[in-house]
Amino acid sequence: MSIRKPYYITTPIYYPSGNPHIGHCYTTLACDVVARLKRMQGYDVMFLTGLDEHGQKIEKKAQEEGVTPQQYVDEIAKKFVKLWETMGITYDRFIRTTDPYHVESVQKIFEDLYKKGYIYKNEYKGKYCTPCESFWTESQLVDGKCPDCGREVTDASEEAYFFKLSEFAPKLEALLLDEERNFLEPKSRVNEMINNFIKPGLQDLCVSRTSFKWGIPVTFDDNHIVYVWIDALSNYISALGYQNSTYDDFTKFWPADMHVMAKEIIRFHSLIWPAMLMALDLPLPKKIYGHGWITFGGGKMSKSSGNVIDPFILADRYGIDSLRYHLLREMPFGADCPYTNETMFNRINTDLANDLGNLVSRTVAMVEKYFGGTLLEESEAKEIDNELISMTDALYDAVISDFETLHIADGLDKIFKVIARANKYIDENEPWKLAKDEAQKVRLSTVLYNLLDTVRRCSILLTPVMPHICPEIFEQIGADETCTNLESANVSGALKKNVTVKKGRVLFPRIDVEKEIAELEALSSKPVEEEDDGQPLEPLKENCVFDDFMKLDLRAGKILSCEKVKKSDKLLCFQIDDGFGGRQILSGIAKYYEPEELVGKVVAFVANFPPRKMMGLESNGMILSCKFGDGFKVVELDPATKPGSDIG
Ligand code: ME8
Repeated sequence: MSIRKPYYITTPIYYPSGNPHIGHCYTTLACDVVARLKRMQGYDVMFLTGLDEHGQKIEKKAQEEGVTPQQYVDEIAKKFVKLWETMGITYDRFIRTTDPYHVESVQKIFEDLYKKGYIYKNEYKGKYCTPCESFWTESQLVDGKCPDCGREVTDASEEAYFFKLSEFAPKLEALLLDEERNFLEPKSRVNEMINNFIKPGLQDLCVSRTSFKWGIPVTFDDNHIVYVWIDALSNYISALGYQNSTYDDFTKFWPADMHVMAKEIIRFHSLIWPAMLMALDLPLPKKIYGHGWITFGGGKMSKSSGNVIDPFILADRYGIDSLRYHLLREMPFGADCPYTNETMFNRINTDLANDLGNLVSRTVAMVEKYFGGTLLEESEAKEIDNELISMTDALYDAVISDFETLHIADGLDKIFKVIARANKYIDENEPWKLAKDEAQKVRLSTVLYNLLDTVRRCSILLTPVMPHICPEIFEQIGADETCTNLESANVSGALKKNVTVKKGRVLFPRIDVEKEIAELEALSSKPVEEEDDGQPLEPLKENCVFDDFMKLDLRAGKILSCEKVKKSDKLLCFQIDDGFGGRQILSGIAKYYEPEELVGKVVAFVANFPPRKMMGLESNGMILSCKFGDGFKVVELDPATKPGSDIG
C-alpha cells in the first residue's frame, strides 16, 4: 500500500469580532484551491482554518451585548462555519482558540518557553490603543495616534511577560535572506521585514496581560493571561496535536507547507512565529504567503457606500462558483484589488457567460444538431488544429505551478486564453459550412471533438476554482471519470472519439449589469440597522474653552496629489494647495483609500502644528478625518471652497 504524501496548508485564524466578509473569503478560497489541487494530485491534505477568539476587543463586544465572551464568539463562529459551507470550502479542521485542546497546548508552550529562559517577567511601558489592544512605541505613532486605527492612545504600563524576540534577529535575517529556502513570498516583503523591523532592532515581545481576563491563563502566574500572538500562532501546531492529546497529526503534517494570509500580518508570521519555533526547537514552516487586500472604495465594505458585498447575498444571487471565480481571478498576486459589484458582473458576463458558457453550449448544440449527439469514431486532423492543441498542452504544468504558488489569477488567465482561442477556432473552421457538405462529415466531427476535448482539459484545471460547475460541464460534454482526473488534463485526446453529449442548463446566465446594480443598491438602502458596525461611539470629551479651540488654525486645502509612502502600509503623502504656496502633509489613512481617489478633493486640515518627520518625510499639518465603519474618511468640504479658507 502506497503512503500518500502529506500536505498542510493554513489560513489565519480570523477574529470573530464581527461578521465574516469578502476579505476573509479571499484567503480561505485561495487555500481551498490549493487544498483541492493537492488532493487531486493525490496528497493527504490537512487544510486548517479557524478563529482567534480571545482578547480585549471580544471581551468588550460581549459586554456591550450583555453576553459572555464565550456566548459571543459561539454565535459568530456559527456564521463563519456557515459561510465556508456556502462557499464550498473543504477545510479539514476548524480550530477555535477557546477549544480546550488548544488551551492545553498554549499553556504548555508558554511554560516550556519560560523554563527554557525565552520568556521573562518585566514591566511594559508604552502608548496603548485600547480598541486595537496594542502597545506602540512613540516612533510608531502616526500623528500621535494609533498607526493601525488612528485613534487616541494613552500612556500605560503593566507587569508583563516578554518573549526574547530580539535574540533571534540574526537567525531571522538569515532565514529571510536565504534565497534557496525562499521562506517568504512575495519577495518584496522580505526587504520590508528586514528594513522596517529587523534593522531598526527587534524589540522583545510582550506576551502576557493583566489588564483583562478573556484569554488563556498563564499556569504559573494567576494574574496573567497569554497575550495574542503566542496564543494565536500556536494554533498551527496545537491543531495537529502538539502538546495535547486530542489530535495525533503533528509528526505527519508538521512543518506546514504553506501559511497564507494578507500583508498586514506577515510580520507576525515571518518574525515572531519562526522565532517561537526556533525557541521550541521545532522545524519552521516551508513557506509564508502574504497576499494583498481586497479594498472597498475607501474603507470598510458598507451597504451605504453602494457596495453590497455580503458574501451570502452574492453567492445566493450569482452562484458560488461565479463568486469564487471572480474573487480569485481579480486579485493579482501580492497587490491590492478593489472590489466592486460592477467588475464582478462584467467578469461573469465576459469570461463565464460569453467565453466559457458559450463555448460549451455552442459546441454541445452543434454535436446534437449535426450528429444527433454522438460524434464519429473516425477523425481527420488538419494543420489548423495544432495551435489550439499545443496551447492546451502547455496549460497543465503552467497552471498547476501558478495555483501551487498562489498565483491563481495568472493560472486562470492562461486557461481563459485557451478558451478564447477555442472560440476563435470555431470561427476559423465554420462548422456550419462544413455541415453543408456530406464529404466534410469526418472533418466536422474532428473540429467539434477538438473543442470538446479542449473544454474537458480546461475544466479539469478549473475544478479547484469552480468545483460545482465543472462536473456539470463534464456531464454536458460526455466526459466520464476515466478522462477527468487531474493527469488526464495533460493528455490530448483522452475523451473518447465517439463521445455522446448531453445538453444541460445554461451554466452562467448573463447578468443585466444596470438592473443588478440597481437591485443591490435598493437592497442596500433597506436594513439600516445591519449597517451598524457594532462599534461604540467615542465618549464625548470634557468641555474645553473657546480660546483653546481658537488656537487651532483649521483651513481648507485642495489635494493636488496623493501617493502611498514607500515601506508604509498606513501613510499617504499629500501635496496640498493651502492658498499659501502649498504644503506636504502625511496622514495614516492608506488602508481606506486608493490614493488617486483623493486627488481633487477639498479637505479640512490643521495648519499650525509644528512640522513632524515620519518615515523620513516631513508633514506640515493634519488632515481631518472621521471614523467610518472600521476605518476613516477624510472630512470633505464643498469642492468650490477656496483653498486656504479659514474654518471656525
Ligand atoms: O489578523 N482583503 O485576524 P483578522 C484580503 N486573528 N484579506 C483580508 C481582508 C481584505 N480586505 N480582510 C481580512 C487576524 N482578510 C488574527 C490572525 S493568525 C495566527 C491570527 C483576511 O480577522 C486576510 O487573510 O484580522 C488577513 O490577513 C486576515 O483576514 C486577518 O484576519
